[in-house]
Amino acid sequence: MATDVKQLIEQMTLEEKASLLGGDDFWHTKAVARLGIPRAMMSDGPHGLRKQDEKADHLGVNESIKAVCFPAACATASSFDTELIGKMGEIIGDECQAEELSIVLGPAVNIKRSPLCGRNFEYFSEDPYLAGKMAAAYINGVQSRHVGTSIKHFALNNQETRRMSVSAQVSERAMREIYFPAFEIAVKEAQPKTVMCSYNKINGVYSADNAWLLTDVLRKDWGFEGFVMTDWGAVDDRVQGVRAGLELEMPGNTAVNDQRIVDAVKAGELDEALVDQACERVLRVVYDYLDNRRTGGVFDREADHKHAAAIETECAVLLENNGVLPLRADAKVVYIGEYAARPRFQGGGSSHINATRVTSALQTAQAKGRAVSYVKGFPFDKDEADAMELQKAVEAAKSADAAVIFAGLPDIIESEGYDRRDMKLPACQDALIEAVLAAQPNTVVVLHNGAPVEAPWADRAAAVLELYLGGEGVGEAADQLLYGEVNPSGHLAETFPMKLEDNPSHLNFPGGVKTVDYAEGVFVGYRYYDTKRLPVRWAFGHGLSYTTFAIGNLRLDGELNDENTVTATVDVSNTGARFGKEVVQLYISDRNGTPGRPAKELKGFAKVGLEPGETKAVSFRLSARDLSYYDERLHDWYAPSGSYAVLVGDASDHITAEAELRFATKKVLPLIIGGDTTMAELMADPRTAPVLARLQGMLMQDAAVLQPTEGEGLGAGEDEMNKAMMLYMPLKSIPSFLPVSAEQMEGFYALLRQAVEG
Ligand code: BGC
Repeated sequence: MATDVKQLIEQMTLEEKASLLGGDDFWHTKAVARLGIPRAMMSDGPHGLRKQDEKADHLGVNESIKAVCFPAACATASSFDTELIGKMGEIIGDECQAEELSIVLGPAVNIKRSPLCGRNFEYFSEDPYLAGKMAAAYINGVQSRHVGTSIKHFALNNQETRRMSVSAQVSERAMREIYFPAFEIAVKEAQPKTVMCSYNKINGVYSADNAWLLTDVLRKDWGFEGFVMTDWGAVDDRVQGVRAGLELEMPGNTAVNDQRIVDAVKAGELDEALVDQACERVLRVVYDYLDNRRTGGVFDREADHKHAAAIETECAVLLENNGVLPLRADAKVVYIGEYAARPRFQGGGSSHINATRVTSALQTAQAKGRAVSYVKGFPFDKDEADAMELQKAVEAAKSADAAVIFAGLPDIIESEGYDRRDMKLPACQDALIEAVLAAQPNTVVVLHNGAPVEAPWADRAAAVLELYLGGEGVGEAADQLLYGEVNPSGHLAETFPMKLEDNPSHLNFPGGVKTVDYAEGVFVGYRYYDTKRLPVRWAFGHGLSYTTFAIGNLRLDGELNDENTVTATVDVSNTGARFGKEVVQLYISDRNGTPGRPAKELKGFAKVGLEPGETKAVSFRLSARDLSYYDERLHDWYAPSGSYAVLVGDASDHITAEAELRFATKKVLPLIIGGDTTMAELMADPRTAPVLARLQGMLMQDAAVLQPTEGEGLGAGEDEMNKAMMLYMPLKSIPSFLPVSAEQMEGFYALLRQAVEG
């Protein structure tokens, strides 16, 4: 039976209630012994458990229990497989039950704004829809085991530099379209038990103090029902936090802040009802776990290690392949680079897991008796060229049938707590890759990294396999993929630009001393590259397979309006000779000339397994929201009536099916009639367009020029030029050019206002 939380709160003193709103230590909520309320324990997350004892810290410095390290979010997002990540969530939920953990601190869903963010490896994507769907699946998986999650970091924590104090200066539109939807989708589809607020400020206000963020958006707009906790040490003004909708301070243990809450209530500055409400929200989550406790579970590390390796095989992305992969079983192969023997499989910081058993590709190859030799080539932990090693690598590559270089970013370059300085691999690795490529055409590059790297050698490599940070089973997964035991099926959840300078945030990352300007607005990732038609190294959504696919025959079952949905269906076929999985992606493109919209935006995806020759139909449901942008005048989602393209393909730069979707809306944008209202605005609004015609009547022949056509260019004769110029003529300027009296203008304003106000 569910514990009566309200009744418990009624029995608590104000001091006890205030104490419940701060943690007991690094990983526990507080107990109230008098009433039998126990502590609840939480742990990082997100891709495995970092359960710590007394020597607690939040940066992954001290050891935690032996646990299983699953692939990080950079990898799991590339699976484009919500079922897979849901299953991973279930396994982690079971591990939490076995370890008596009531909350796992994840998933982390911040948008990969710049390739340089040190913590990108922990985040899913540059695309909010993909990040949201993956997060929701993970949360549903974990929470199906009655263990809570903490989706983080809400919001705008897109860099590590000055993360604890910087103010992200960003438009509401960019927040609603890019930086919020991953949280929004997760709240609406999975109702995470908790949300972790970010360290940083948003437009000058700390997230921990931000009532608009934590209450208006999170609870009122999206319907969040759990509690909000701070990131570790993110509290600012504790009393304002309670008012704003921040329930739990972590790591807490600050009697000072408990006392501040008590004092504020006593002084009449804080409503005690808000304290009660915060306690209720915390205790509901604590008791949801306790009331549904599953005792007797065991953390089966061996079984979960196997799951971790199997999951990684679904995540890795085959970026290039001229046919050298899969490697022939009898081929003489040399593995080069220390990551072959000591893979980089996770990132540094709070998500750092004390892995049970890490397997390398070399060890796996040796265990399987493969004809693989090994040259270290370069070290796993630093950028240190070694001429002897390089020479050995080149010689070994020459005498082998193929060379596989295990490259990647050392921990020191990519971690929580700081950002990368550039987008390059260590120079010693690039030099070695070049030298080996010159000696052996059958050279494969395998990458271990949490975010894009520049790959100037990519066109000359026989194949490139992106493993990301693939968890403790990454070596087994690499072996299976390289030798074709599993067919690669990951697709990129982010763009690899040619060079760092191409990235849209480049001029504003990581910003100034106090602020960072999100000047690129909604043009993040492929939304920018596609709109600019900028060549990229590997596009968002790109991923190859050892078989081939065809996607086509796109059909829509109707037209869309504000209320209904339309189903888009495509056929996807395996046109090659072996089983494989394709990632079908659906994008929407506004074809109405609406200013400031990206060329396309992802609104659906599906991972489909197909036998050779098999065809399956895949359907996606679309609604008005999928066509909409966030209109700041309306404070709501809006799409103009008209035409939209539904684009389907297997990468953002490989669209193979297209159909037109017609849309009609009853929503109208607010229009304020004043001196600066232009002819173009009046023509675009169905309420004022007819009034313009009447004005034309009033002004006789001279006013004919008030009926230009939007989009008409200059140079089509004087009349045409006049019309084009008139388009952006504000009302206040009409009397300067046309014989209109002040009374006529007054009448005209009145008519327009009446038309708008009804
Ligand atoms: C990180 C969080 C993490 C927390 C606890 C913070 O530094 O930003 O993601 O959950 O520490 O370790």
